[in-house]
Amino acid sequence: MARARTVWRCQTCGASAPRWLGRCNECGEFGTFVEEAERESRAASSRSASNVTPVPLSSVGADEAPRIAVGIPELDRALGGGLVSGSLVLLGGEPGIGKSTLILQAADALGKQGRRVLYVCGEESPQQIGLRARRISAISEGVELLAELDIAAVEVAVTQTRPDFLVLDSIQTAFDPDLEGAPGSVGQVRSCTARLMRIAKDLGVTTLIVGHVTKEGAIAGPRVLEHMVDAVLYFEGDRDHAFRVVRTVKNRFGSASEVGIFEMTEGGLLGVDSPSALLEERADVPGSAVMSAMEGSRPLLVEIQALVSPSYLPAPRRLATGIDSARLLQVLAVLERRAGLSFAGADVIVSVAGGLRISEPAVDAPLALALASALQGRSVPSRLVAFGELGLTGRLRPVGQTEARVKEAGRLGFDRVAAVMPSTGSAQARVAFERAEDAAGLVALLS
Ligand code: TYD
Ligand code: MG
Repeated sequence: MARARTVWRCQTCGASAPRWLGRCNECGEFGTFVEEAERESRAASSRSASNVTPVPLSSVGADEAPRIAVGIPELDRALGGGLVSGSLVLLGGEPGIGKSTLILQAADALGKQGRRVLYVCGEESPQQIGLRARRISAISEGVELLAELDIAAVEVAVTQTRPDFLVLDSIQTAFDPDLEGAPGSVGQVRSCTARLMRIAKDLGVTTLIVGHVTKEGAIAGPRVLEHMVDAVLYFEGDRDHAFRVVRTVKNRFGSASEVGIFEMTEGGLLGVDSPSALLEERADVPGSAVMSAMEGSRPLLVEIQALVSPSYLPAPRRLATGIDSARLLQVLAVLERRAGLSFAGADVIVSVAGGLRISEPAVDAPLALALASALQGRSVPSRLVAFGELGLTGRLRPVGQTEARVKEAGRLGFDRVAAVMPSTGSAQARVAFERAEDAAGLVALLS
């Protein structure tokens, strides 16, 4: 088969060149050239004016796209109720986090519903997948394996067998024979994804693709694909912890803030439907505070831990795991200036227990409590939860979904809440709101 002509195109300004250039002659940016298949000329593809008809906005969108629940509740939750048929979903995550396991379980669950799934494996051999499937007993009839790296061959297989679902693990191993670049390069992953997108839309085959991201956020990783696909899920968590979070970062068909929580076990991934159980029995030691966090629409109690110890370095260390380090610096500065604490000459280490990641500003209040508690050696009252954003003036601000947070705290036996009530709403559960209106007020709660 003749190769299509390709060009190298600058991703910043769109200039093209017949070969790779390290620096763009037009805009001067470095390392922006990516190989692309040459497009047909405009004149050839332009249509006659007669078949271009806009439709009234009011006449579309009344019928919601049909969704197919995968049958794995935590995954369906992250997807906003299931897979929209004909959509293309990207599942990203670090190597070893459990992407292949989840996608195999999803294929199996769909197969058990009587759907036909074509599982294209580029990463592992069919034998390896078979072994894993047996181990986690995910061996339903409807799943067929295809060991293929060539995306053109995948197109042929899909056209011939017309499966309901297409699964590809991973996009980094697929290659488009029309391009010269190696599999995994930006040009290749983009072109392969574009071709899969076309298959999904033209044939109505719902497609799930796996993409690797490295800790450094590899260039050719899923990031360059986010804008092309319908939904992006990221698998987060710590390989050394059992708990994994599937977070939706983009969803053209639903909310982009939902999460599914899983536990990696001997028998594959298990959904965790009551995630506050992540909260272990806490010892009453200084440096630990409980937060009522929101993951999507679901409240979740997590423990924020802090350790303050004398530093032997001229510039003491500030280390944050699971919390943005800029947040830590800000809360430390607020505590120093607004509550009169001093962390000078001390290393400060904070983390979220269980390997979770908390990115919402509501972490400020429990973080401040844990830090002050660690510094002063006084513990946080045992049945107290906190949430709220600390402004630079030291005032505690209300955050969203107070009611849900308070309710979850109450359900787990926490009856004291350090937070600011929003002026509207009625979060009047059987809990007592503490008089904590600012950083100093939080510190005063320690015993
Ligand atoms: P895997 O799904 O291969 O990760 P990825 O595709 O994201 O690279 O699996 C990740 C890890 O999970 C692997 O090191 C082994 C472990 N694992 C279990 O603990 N239990 C299981 O049932 C399976 C299938 C894997
Ligand atoms: Mg894998």
